[in-house]
Amino acid sequence: MGIVNEDNITDVVTESLGKHGDITDRQREIMTSLIKHMHGFIKDVKLQHSEFLEACSYLERAGKLCNENRQEFILLADIIGAEVLVDMMTNPVEGNASESTVLGPFYRENPPVLPKGASTIQKHYDNEETAYYEGYIRDEDGNGIAGVTMDVWEDAPNGIYENLDPDQPEYNLRGRFETDENGHYAFVAVRPVPYPIPEDETAGELLHFMGHHPNRPGHMHFIISKDGFRPLISQIYDADSDWLENDSVFAVKESLIGKFKPAPEGLGTDLHLEYDFVLQADERAIAAE
Ligand code: BEZ
Ligand code: FE
Repeated sequence: MGIVNEDNITDVVTESLGKHGDITDRQREIMTSLIKHMHGFIKDVKLQHSEFLEACSYLERAGKLCNENRQEFILLADIIGAEVLVDMMTNPVEGNASESTVLGPFYRENPPVLPKGASTIQKHYDNEETAYYEGYIRDEDGNGIAGVTMDVWEDAPNGIYENLDPDQPEYNLRGRFETDENGHYAFVAVRPVPYPIPEDETAGELLHFMGHHPNRPGHMHFIISKDGFRPLISQIYDADSDWLENDSVFAVKESLIGKFKPAPEGLGTDLHLEYDFVLQADERAIAAE
C-alpha cells in the first residue's frame, strides 16, 4: 500500500493488486485497466463529491429495478453503446460469417417449436403487414447446413413485445424453426415496427441526461445454433424503417439490413424478405475432433 497524493494514487492502487490474495492474470489485467480509466475519468471531469454521491444513489435505484423481467444494467449498457462493443469484442467479424448484434432484454427461452413455413402470428392488428421470411443458413464454404435451430422474436404491430403486453397471447410472434436438408429456413411473421426501449426510471433518466430518444428501428431477432458452429445472436433491420441510422442502442450494422419486397402471388403474405446467414465453425469443436 502507500501514502497517496493526486499524482501517485493510480500507481498505488494498481500496484496493490494481488498483494494480499492470489489473483489471476486476467483479474489483474481487468482491474489495472479499470482503475486507470476510472481515475482518468474522475480527473478529466474533476468529479465532485456531490456528483459521486448522486451516481451511487442512481446505481442503487437501478439495482433495485432488476428482476426476472427487467435487467436494468444491460439496458443502461445498451444506451451507452457498451453491450454492442462487448459483442464486437466477443464475436469479431471474421471471413464471410454473418455479423452478430445485441440480444436485448426481450428473449424468452423455449418458444413454440413450429414446422418450416409456419406462422408465429397469434393475434391480428389492423395496421399489420404480414411477411414471409426465408433464406439459407450456410457454412463458410457455402454449403447449406441442415437441422439448424432458429429462434425468432419481434414486437407486435403495436410496438410491444408479447411478454410485456397482457393483451397478447403467450409467445405471440415467437417461434423455433429448423432448416431443411438444404439449409433452407422459412416462416411467416409480421413486418417489425420501430418501438421505444423502456424509458421510465433509470434508463429514461440516462436517455434524458444524454439528450437521446428511446427509439429502435424495426427489427426481427434471431438466435441461430447448431452443434459444431458458433451460435449467432443477431437481428435483421428493415431497410425502410425510421431510426435505422439513429438507433437508441447503436446496434444496427450495414450487413444486417434487409429489404422487404411485395410478396409474389401465391405466397399468402403482404411482404417477402429473403436473407441468408453464414455460420462460423466452432474452433473448440474442431479442436476436439
Ligand atoms: C431489443 O432489441 O429488443 C433491445 C435491445 C437493447 C435494449 C432494449 C431492447
Ligand atoms: Fe428488439
